[in-house]
Amino acid sequence: MSYQIALSFEDGVTRFVTANPNETVADAAYKSRINIPFDCRDGACGTCKAFCESGKYDGGDYIDEALTEDEAEKGFCLPCQMVPESDLVLQVAGTSEMAKAGATTFEATVTDLSWFADNTAALTLAVENRGELKFLPGQYMNFAVPGTEASRSYSFSSGPAADELRFLIRTAPEGAMTTYLKERAQVGDTIALTGPMGSFFLRDIKRPVLMLAGGTGIAPLLSMLEKIATGLEEAPAHPVHLVYGVTFDKDLVELDKLQHYADAIENFTIAVCVADPESTAENKGYVTQYITAAQLNDGDVDVYLCGPPAMVDAVRKYWDTRGITPANFYYERFAVGSTAAAAPALAGAVA
Ligand SMILES: Cc1cc2nc3c(=O)[nH]c(=O)nc-3n(C[C@H](O)[C@H](O)[C@H](O)COP(=O)(O)OP(=O)(O)OC[C@H]3O[C@@H](n4cnc5c(N)ncnc54)[C@H](O)[C@@H]3O)c2cc1C
Ligand code: FES
Repeated sequence: MSYQIALSFEDGVTRFVTANPNETVADAAYKSRINIPFDCRDGACGTCKAFCESGKYDGGDYIDEALTEDEAEKGFCLPCQMVPESDLVLQVAGTSEMAKAGATTFEATVTDLSWFADNTAALTLAVENRGELKFLPGQYMNFAVPGTEASRSYSFSSGPAADELRFLIRTAPEGAMTTYLKERAQVGDTIALTGPMGSFFLRDIKRPVLMLAGGTGIAPLLSMLEKIATGLEEAPAHPVHLVYGVTFDKDLVELDKLQHYADAIENFTIAVCVADPESTAENKGYVTQYITAAQLNDGDVDVYLCGPPAMVDAVRKYWDTRGITPANFYYERFAVGSTAAAAPALAGAVA
């Protein structure tokens, strides 16, 4: 059986390689002409040391100078020695440029553009070589905005196995992408997408998970939920809870899909809140008001947060005031006006 290895580079680019049975990650990468850093290729120098975010493997033979027992226990590994026993996600030291493995550009065709309200678009795209566009749920692509020189980032809201790609896009007054969507976009248009990018992706569920979404920050979390609902061998062994907050009632999107996941995923629950005091929602206020002590589990929780920069900052402050340090805190800021080059640095992972 062959396995898919996602190699996630420091600059946010992810490349996928296929490992055949008993093949090391190094050999699989070499076949795909991806130069991850190597020296001895013998488990002696530690040059290739990487971090395994998810999946199972046989670590192979190596000496303590290359990888200590403590490091191996934490999830560090040696790609020159390790043989995958499942699909893997590895954080590789170095940039994709160094590995001569820059992000790929795909030509996508608009197959549908619909609006939730006047401020949120759902854009569906088809890519001819869909099989080559592999991504991890939570990641994003950089879009070349048609008819402009601008590039904007959007997170997949569809799951990695879906045929078509779906994105949820919040408009901004006179924004480049906004103006394209509102004034020029047509079914049949082509859009160049580059990626996949980002370190905000779903890891193995080893403890309770708390997902926090603000506005269209729900998009990458929907992609993760799709993976949990349809792409995992087993239902999550720990509770997964989502708090989804928006400013106004009209900003709430994809509630039917969320309900579908609540029905389909055992142990998955949702709370929705709206900041506007005039809202008809049951829960009024901000996401942090609807996090419970049980969900924080004394800090033994993996938190995935996606939303505008102000929300990310507010949640970080919330940890400080509550004296909580989540076991893992992964976040993506939907910074406005980002370019392809600036975007990767905006994603964070704090262990
Ligand atoms: C990693 C990442 C993932 C993202 N994923 C999503 C997603 O899934 N969904 C989503 O909705 N958004 C997402 N975003 C945000 C998205 O990339 C865009 O920033 C957003 O859609 C606005 O794009 P725009 O071209 O319409 O507006 P822009 O052209 O970027 O303009 C935004 C606003 O800034 C104003 N502005 C522009 N330039 C200036 C200037 N020089 N001075 C003052 N004001 C200015 C404009 O008038 C406008 O109101 C993501 C961002 C990042 C970094
Ligand atoms: S290259 Fe030396 S340990 Fe892997």
